[in-house]
Amino acid sequence: MATPLEEAKQRVVWLRREIERHNQLYYDHATPEISDQAYDQLDHELIELERTFPDLASTDSPTQRVGEKPLDQFQSVSHLTRMQSLDNTYSEGEVMEFVHRLERLLPGQALTFTVEPKVDGVAISLLYEDGRLMRAATRGDGTTGDDVTQNIRTIAQIPDQLAVAAPGQIEIRGEVYLPKSEFARINAERDEEGLPVFANPRNAAAGSLKQLDSRMVAQRKLAAVFYGAGAFAEGGSQREFLEFLRSAGLPVGERCWAANSADEVLAAIRELDGIRHDFPYETDGAVVKVDAFRQRDQLGSTSKAPRWAIAYKYQPEQARTRLRDITIQVGRTGVLTPVAELEPVFVSGSTVSRATLHNEEEIQRKDLRIGDWVMIEKAGEVIPAVVAVLTQERTGEERIFQMPGLCPSCGQAVSREEGQVAVRCVNPACAAQLQRRLEHFAHRGAMDIEGLGESMVAQLIAAKLVTDVPDIYQLTREGLLALERTGEKSVTNLLAAIEASKKQPLWRLIFGLGILHVGATAARKLAAKFHQLDAIAQATEEELKATDDVGEVMARSIRQWLETPVTREWIARLREAGLNFGQLDEMLTNADGPLRETTWVLTGTLSISRDEAAEMIRQRGGTVTGSVSKKTTYVLAGEEAGSKLEKAEKLGIKILDEAAFRKMLES
Ligand code: IVH
Repeated sequence: MATPLEEAKQRVVWLRREIERHNQLYYDHATPEISDQAYDQLDHELIELERTFPDLASTDSPTQRVGEKPLDQFQSVSHLTRMQSLDNTYSEGEVMEFVHRLERLLPGQALTFTVEPKVDGVAISLLYEDGRLMRAATRGDGTTGDDVTQNIRTIAQIPDQLAVAAPGQIEIRGEVYLPKSEFARINAERDEEGLPVFANPRNAAAGSLKQLDSRMVAQRKLAAVFYGAGAFAEGGSQREFLEFLRSAGLPVGERCWAANSADEVLAAIRELDGIRHDFPYETDGAVVKVDAFRQRDQLGSTSKAPRWAIAYKYQPEQARTRLRDITIQVGRTGVLTPVAELEPVFVSGSTVSRATLHNEEEIQRKDLRIGDWVMIEKAGEVIPAVVAVLTQERTGEERIFQMPGLCPSCGQAVSREEGQVAVRCVNPACAAQLQRRLEHFAHRGAMDIEGLGESMVAQLIAAKLVTDVPDIYQLTREGLLALERTGEKSVTNLLAAIEASKKQPLWRLIFGLGILHVGATAARKLAAKFHQLDAIAQATEEELKATDDVGEVMARSIRQWLETPVTREWIARLREAGLNFGQLDEMLTNADGPLRETTWVLTGTLSISRDEAAEMIRQRGGTVTGSVSKKTTYVLAGEEAGSKLEKAEKLGIKILDEAAFRKMLES
């Protein structure tokens, strides 16, 4: 029989190896295999064993380290002060113990705690010198991290120059995150392109920050929240410090509660849980901190974490349900995506009946079988995902899924490229692809043809009125009237919308063409640089790559697209139909327009969409940017405008409401 010490030793060795492996998956590859909660359990078990058997403690145990090791490619830089981590717990009881422990450690002192959202992003440290951003670094091992300054500069919310005087060197700490909406958009795009998807917004943010090409980062629309200081602390408390950050022009958390007792702390934690799903970032908990810096100094730190703070983590919301079937969806570019058809179940605020399974490897890795009981969660609080299979519930009736060899839509053989996880239908005439291509071309963000949505597109394809995008411009009144559920009025409207789309600005056409990797932002940049579709068609890969926001992969994809005979024919037919290939843009974007040399920021809710308002400004020669700085000329503020408005007020920038804006355009 093994002694308890021997048994513990074996377990400790196993735990350390397992934790190291998960660290690598998480930090180096941004592809975690287990949930945070499961990871924390391993971590806690190891801490507990090392505490019970001090002989087993070791300086190279993962419990003694704070985070990841810096990557080679980036320059390593030293933090002025160590970037610590936080002790964490899933138990309200332990939060109460934490409060009571501090009350005992500081007898007779009144204690105030702050409770803030725990932003689930990537920790970052900014170094400002005399108010100028000099450097941004990841946490790394807590002492040295990766210099990611170039990438951080792509984040519009992070000012190059602080808005208040801040002499000397200061380190500001926070979290870089990918907004939930961006996460959903990027993953949908990656699925469409057959690329591996990100497990959650944090992995997407981590993966983005590690891109060596900052143009790729710029496309990801990262954001940030700041909550702490390294070297230097302005003010005497957390609340004053957050106020300083705000006035300096740095984004801070949505809310910060002040609590004077364990009960008040718990009440704040619960209140936060009720509202956190509405935040633009994902939160995995609440951070409870001693408010007064003087008291923090008295409490000090352990080797890993400060004694004055604790993170309370919310249980991820999961639901149990049955996998009824796995079906196949064919995307715009022909990628076949397996989709879980689930028995409907309620989780994180809505009923879920489908979840993408991404690709065959993913299904095999999870050993998922049709008929299985599964646990589902919402990745990034938005996208339903199957996170675990309850293998103990198996009856033997479950069926193993196999990816079809034929496209379920057109019946042609599918192809799988060497080294790629994606299976594609390569038949350009495939109806499912055609459906998606047309929907994409016509949707609001692209050519904006009202009335040409999913069901209309399906009808047109079924009636063989369209076999590809250019056919949209060949539709006739008679043809449309012969369809079911159409009337004089809807046909007139649809034809008018199609006609109007011919005058859409060039970038909308470029985006609508659906070239792999080319999103709306890149389409805008391409249009702004080349002005004419023909100039883009003639550009070399090098010339394309020299465009802002266009990297190597995208440049190659554009060239490939342009060299395909089918798409060449498309272009010829769209030209014949009289679409704007750029010649109208000159008139549309009026470089001498009344708003020339003005820079605008839009915020809050307007009666029209922000995109429309932005277009109105651009057409008159103005520039629209995402964040308020000294360079901003006007802020157009709609209903419920938030921090941007506050910042504009502080900087003394002219603020217009919608009425004043319209008046300005008319004059
Ligand atoms: S305070 C001395 N406040 O969560 C450490 N951290 O799991 C001070 N985090 O290391 C950290 N939101 O990277 C603090 N409002 C918040 C936070 C926050 C997210 C991160 C941070 C920390 C990790 C601990």
